[in-house]
Amino acid sequence: MRAVELLAKKRDGAALSRAEIEWFVEQYTAGALPDYQAAALLMAICIRGMTREETVDLTLAMAHSGEVLVLHEMLGGYAVDKHSSGGVGDKTTLVVLPLVASCGVPVAKMSGRGLGFSGGTLDKLESIAGYDVNLSTERFETLAKTNGIVLSGQTHDLAPADGQLYALRDVTATVPSLPLIASSIMSKKIAAGADGIVLDVKMGTGAFMNSLEDARQLAQTMVDIGTDAGRDMIAVISDMNQPLGQAVGNALEVAEAIETLHGGGPDDFRAHCLEIAGYMLRLAGQGARWTDAEAVRELLIRQLHNDAAFDKFRLLAEAQGGDVRLVDHPRRLPQAAHQEILYAAEAGFIGQVSALDIANAAFELGAGREKKGDPIDLAVGVRVHVKVGDLIAQGAPLVTLYANDETRLERSRALAAGAIAVQDSAVDPLPLFYDVLCGP
Ligand code: URA
Repeated sequence: MRAVELLAKKRDGAALSRAEIEWFVEQYTAGALPDYQAAALLMAICIRGMTREETVDLTLAMAHSGEVLVLHEMLGGYAVDKHSSGGVGDKTTLVVLPLVASCGVPVAKMSGRGLGFSGGTLDKLESIAGYDVNLSTERFETLAKTNGIVLSGQTHDLAPADGQLYALRDVTATVPSLPLIASSIMSKKIAAGADGIVLDVKMGTGAFMNSLEDARQLAQTMVDIGTDAGRDMIAVISDMNQPLGQAVGNALEVAEAIETLHGGGPDDFRAHCLEIAGYMLRLAGQGARWTDAEAVRELLIRQLHNDAAFDKFRLLAEAQGGDVRLVDHPRRLPQAAHQEILYAAEAGFIGQVSALDIANAAFELGAGREKKGDPIDLAVGVRVHVKVGDLIAQGAPLVTLYANDETRLERSRALAAGAIAVQDSAVDPLPLFYDVLCGP
């Protein structure tokens, strides 16, 4: 095979065969193809798109470029996973993993660090002093088996081709291509080895996908890929025009997740977690158990109120070396030195709480990182006290900023204040979910 022929074929809009896609991924990962040829192919894909078959072939070729786990062998039963396309205040994994595990469905998940406005799940977990995200393969498996829950960074070399191609996409303006995004996400999910996957595709100003149509297309493409790869799939499209829950920032989000695990927490965040956990149980029940959505919901609410889910979270933290005193007393999590509350200048209805502006306000305080390896401040962030549609009085608190460096407050304050719009006429609350797609 010759790379130039593949490039010409894709440039002219023809579909590549499975053999061609596998060859390309193998050669590029092995260092036998130069970046400029891979970049040219990515650009051709970006412009010409890919068929469903090509997208699946690309995903599987990337998934098989490294180790592919078979989680049900490790866990001794059906394995279920979740993935979020990423959003502001999205600490869902911290709640749904222990919640699902508390219902007797083991979960073994590898998560990532964050780039941009706030940390990823691993950064958030590191707010619990001592929590070890770097587990050996053996330890990962042992904890999965003995505790029914483990949550770490990557223990295996999962989909290394995606890592290389993503870095190239980043510098060649080829990130925003639907088949490339879908195959990138799904290659890692398939390599991570679950039988059933719940995808949470975010839509809105604080998400990758700004329109419902784009989010639906991405969700459908990922459901199709998973289905063709033999996985059970559910994708939900959820709102990311305003932050999820109240807390945005690493330790703040852990504290909010703990509150939720005790049956409290913000209403929207709790409802979101119940929905995602419900879909995970539905997949894990494989049509035989947990088919009654209302009964599942009641079970999940019970597991929050009786602290069964919290106990699983505590076990998770303890098993991975975390200081459980911080889990028992979240006030001992990293605390920022300064707090500042912004109040409403006038009464009215909340017309907007821009997820993007709130994210930038948290980033400005040091909650996120610009590039891989940058340090982040675990204690800082923003708490948002209002939701779109709320009726508020003059002087009501809108947001609290948590800062360690007062000099960073000014820009953060401006961003947070600009995020929120108050108007005279009533506004409908934003929906939590827009759509659900199932496969096969
Ligand atoms: N997340 C990924 O893992 N890959 C993409 O291409 C976009 C988001």
